Order: sequence, then C-alpha cells, then structure tokens
Amino acid sequence: MRNFTCVNDIGNLKSAVEEAFEIKAERYKYCELGKNKTLMMVFFNSSLRTRLSTQKAALNLGMNVIVLDINQGAWKLETQRGVIMDGDRPEHILEAIPVMGSYCDVIGVRSFARFESREEDYNEVILNQFIKYSGRPVFSMEAATRHPLQSFADIITIEEHKKKERPKVVMTWAPHPKALPQAVPNSFAEWMNATDYEFVITHPKGYELDPSFVGNAKVEYDQMKAFEGADFVYAKNWAAYSGDNYGKILCNDRSWTVSNRQMAVTDNAHFMHCLPVRRNMIVTDDVIESPRSLVIPEAANREISATVVLKRILMDL
Ligand code: CP
Repeated sequence: MRNFTCVNDIGNLKSAVEEAFEIKAERYKYCELGKNKTLMMVFFNSSLRTRLSTQKAALNLGMNVIVLDINQGAWKLETQRGVIMDGDRPEHILEAIPVMGSYCDVIGVRSFARFESREEDYNEVILNQFIKYSGRPVFSMEAATRHPLQSFADIITIEEHKKKERPKVVMTWAPHPKALPQAVPNSFAEWMNATDYEFVITHPKGYELDPSFVGNAKVEYDQMKAFEGADFVYAKNWAAYSGDNYGKILCNDRSWTVSNRQMAVTDNAHFMHCLPVRRNMIVTDDVIESPRSLVIPEAANREISATVVLKRILMDL
C-alpha cells in the first residue's frame, strides 16, 4: 500500500478484517518491520484517539514516531499558492511538506474541513499536497471528507459483535452545538457500502450527504422508523453539505438525541460513536453507559486499524 485515504486503498475488505483479527490476536508479531523507520504524524487539528492509537500502532511495529502539532509551536503555514506572504503565515506548505518528508519514511496527516469553500474541502487540498510533495507514503488521520482509520475500526467492531450475517446498521444524525465536518459520516457510509450489510441513514431534511458517499444506502427521514429492527446504531452529528448551506447548522432538535426511546424499537442494538461525544446532545447517559454501548471497544480498535494500515505501508516501502 502506498497511500491510505479511502476504502478503495484497503483492497479486499474481508481480507483486511481478517488481517485485523490476526493482528489483534498477536499485535507485536511485526515488531521488527518498522525498525529504523520513522513515522511523522502531522496534526492541523486536535485529537485524542487518533494521536494515541496511531502512535501505539507505530510502536507495535517497531517504528520511531515524531508528532508535529502545526498550531502549537510550528510556523503558521500558508496553504494557497500565489499568495503574497505579507501576513501572519511565515512558511509556505510547499516548502514545509518536502522538509517534513526528508525527516521520515511515512507521514500521517490530520486536516479537517475548514468550511470556507466546499470545493476546497472536497478536493482535499491539504492531504493531496502531502501526497504530491512529501515524497513519502501518506495516510489520512481524518481529512476534510473522510476518516478511513475510524471507519476501518468501526467495521472491525461490527464484525466482532454482529450476530447476523447481514446486520442492519443505522447511521443517525444527532444534534451538536458546533458545526462539524461530514468526514466521519461520509467515510462510514463509504465503508458500509463496501459491505453487504443493510445500511440506513437517517437525518432531518437539509442534512443530505454528498450522494457519492450515500451510494446505495436507504435514506429515511423518520428516525424512529429507521431504528426499527436495527442491530447497530451509529450516531454522529454533521453540518449541512448542500449548496449555500454548506457548513451550516440547520437544526437543533433534541428529539434526535439517541435515547432509550429510539433504542427500544431496535433489535437490542449496539450503540456506536467515534468519540469524542457530547453526552445528552448526541446520546443520553443511559444509552452510552449501557452494556450495548461499543464506544470503548470501537476506540480500542483504532490501534488495530492503524497497525494494519502501517504494516501494509511498511511492507511496500
Ligand atoms: N475518533 C477520533 O478520531 O478521535 P480523535 O478526534 O480524538 O482523534
């Protein structure tokens, strides 16, 4: 594997999940693979799980790790070519990226949607510049439109807990006080569409995702109807995608908060969320603390998804 930015990069999903289970059973099996190799993790945005799990994955493989927080201690980066740099950004990303590449063997990048321009976000301008100019394999640690390490961990978690061959998985929008990117729901939908699960998306009108991510999913605007018979409920907030509403909050209806009321019509569904989660906005305390909640095992599987991805990248160096 050269780069990892979306579901297509993982190849056969069934094989990838089997590999994840093998790694989980013996996570230090490839501890020599990364000897004398350096991972650089570049964060344009905050993180708890991605930072820790990816670093742990690299250590499992015997790699050295450098972490750079762009907004804490590094020079502020200009990202647009052609700009007269007389403002507060003393370094251009076009020099910074190849310099970073010269100090490492593999680069992970976290760069969220900025909501300044849908075109810029959906063209993955930052991530693609790393791929183009670093001279190194690059993997996404959540970019503007996708969060593939999270989605891979989500699938591993569902495969571990499913009781039916084709579980019903429902992704539901839930309220949040801030406008959040569509990366997690886009990516989850993309990975779900690569399975043969029954996949339903539910959200208030106006929160339609990019159709290329929705794919074959059923969209159901009635949340209670969507939840009927669900085996897994995946909650997430996202801001509007469509037209002039891109990046806006259109609804704060707290009846969409996942509670025992909706969970009661499921088939004793497991609750999932990528975390961090705002309790009693996205999900009630009761649901997230219930024995059916998978939020902790889901986060723990981030170490496994990252180990598989880094192992594959190292094998092709
Ligand atoms: N789920 C996830 O990516 O968590 P962090 O934002 O804390 O890395």
